[in-house]
Amino acid sequence: MTAVGIDAIEIWTGKLQLDLPETFAPAKGEDPEKYTKGLGLETSSFPDAYEDIVTMGANAAKRLMDREGLAPDDIGRIDVATESAFDNSKPVSTYIAGCLEQVYEGDFHHANKGERKFACVAGTQSIDDAYNWIKAGRHRGRSALVIATDTALYARGDPGEATQGAGAVAMLISEDPSIVELSTEQGYGSADETDFLKPNQQFPSVDGKRSMQVYLARMREALEDFESVAWDTHPEDFAYIPYHTPFPGMVRKAGLLGYRHMIRDTEIEDALEGRIGRQPREDDFDSWEEYEEAIRGYMDDLKGTEEYQSWYADTIDPTLNISRQVGNWYTGSVHIARASALRHAAENDVDLAGQKLLVASYGSGAQAEIHAETVADGWREQIEALNIDDQMERRYDLSYDEYEKVHDRHNHDMDVELEEFTQPEGEFVFTGWGRMSERK
Ligand code: CAA
Repeated sequence: MTAVGIDAIEIWTGKLQLDLPETFAPAKGEDPEKYTKGLGLETSSFPDAYEDIVTMGANAAKRLMDREGLAPDDIGRIDVATESAFDNSKPVSTYIAGCLEQVYEGDFHHANKGERKFACVAGTQSIDDAYNWIKAGRHRGRSALVIATDTALYARGDPGEATQGAGAVAMLISEDPSIVELSTEQGYGSADETDFLKPNQQFPSVDGKRSMQVYLARMREALEDFESVAWDTHPEDFAYIPYHTPFPGMVRKAGLLGYRHMIRDTEIEDALEGRIGRQPREDDFDSWEEYEEAIRGYMDDLKGTEEYQSWYADTIDPTLNISRQVGNWYTGSVHIARASALRHAAENDVDLAGQKLLVASYGSGAQAEIHAETVADGWREQIEALNIDDQMERRYDLSYDEYEKVHDRHNHDMDVELEEFTQPEGEFVFTGWGRMSERK
């Protein structure tokens, strides 16, 4: 059976950066270590005045098409995953296709286009859709372009302001892929939740602490569901486990939860099961606090073991390197985590081909998806072609006052006069709402 998966990837970061410990924390009167040690963040990316989700997505896609030598006729499907869309009718993929048609011969008239929404998990869902489309044999030899693009901004003064970011990830889904092969091993945890939502509003209404609990609860369900198709899963089965990373501190908690689940150390399960007569779930307790207390001591002990720390350092920590420097990219975040892990392997000359990844995606509202992937032979060449370090290095470093203006402008407030901090360099630029972006 032909393998289907991710054949190529490109990343585009917003061209501005906010230094969290040096610039943001002092302006907020906070301890810089809350950012570096607590949340695990150094800098966040922001879009310059001429960037938005369309330009970032189109620029990532163009780099990918150029590198792979692709023409529009090679692509039969364009799906954009975003939770920052500005149009309730036209999908963002049509805007991006319009950009790309300005620079390539031919057009995307033959391509099926759509927009996927389920908060941050939508990027992975779009990959799943592309996989199914190819496996169903409807692709006529063409590949699918999946673009995850977001400006993750929160209202000023909201605790979420600490965990912002902006950027796009473009991925080509094809037969015989170069980077990873997808599998049918997949599990879900899904429930109607109201911890994070954006009903007709630009900035989310968030219950931050609860959103973290919901993330962990759905992730646990997804792991259980995953194990109903992938029996006998153990932490050491996977070279890396990229998680959705709103900020690295969240993944510290999720990594521990996943590890505890997979080691099947029945000590805690037995202790709790004795109380309730079956495997425990958080809703068996009167409150989350009671559940947390029941497992906190056990988890603290586990976290302190050398075995766990070394597993975390090898399997999880390398997935966080890019995220620490760019913040939350919502739909792109878990795909940044995968790229970060593969880049770490390339830098350390690890032979990854044939090894497995466990990819843990999550979207508020809320749904987690766990799936397994196998690293393909061409992964190293693809990852070494990424210029994300160069892009991050070249970002303009905002002062706090400049940050506030950028933030106002990206709240769709076009009355805010905003200078351009960087110059476009042969890339698509934003020219106004509803208008086609141009290359400049
Ligand atoms: N030194 C070291 N650590 C410190 C510290 C210091 N001086 N000060 C605080 N910390 C630690 C805290 O102990 C805490 O760590 P633990 O959770 O491990 O205890 C961490 O730094 C953060 O500190 P606070 O909890 O005090 O931070 P906060 O109340 O300002 O808010 C937040 C944190 C709730 C995550 C907030 O940033 C937020 O609402 N973010 C947006 C929502 C979000 O990202 N949720 C994640 C799950 S939902 C999801 O994943 C979808 C998505 O993309 C949005």
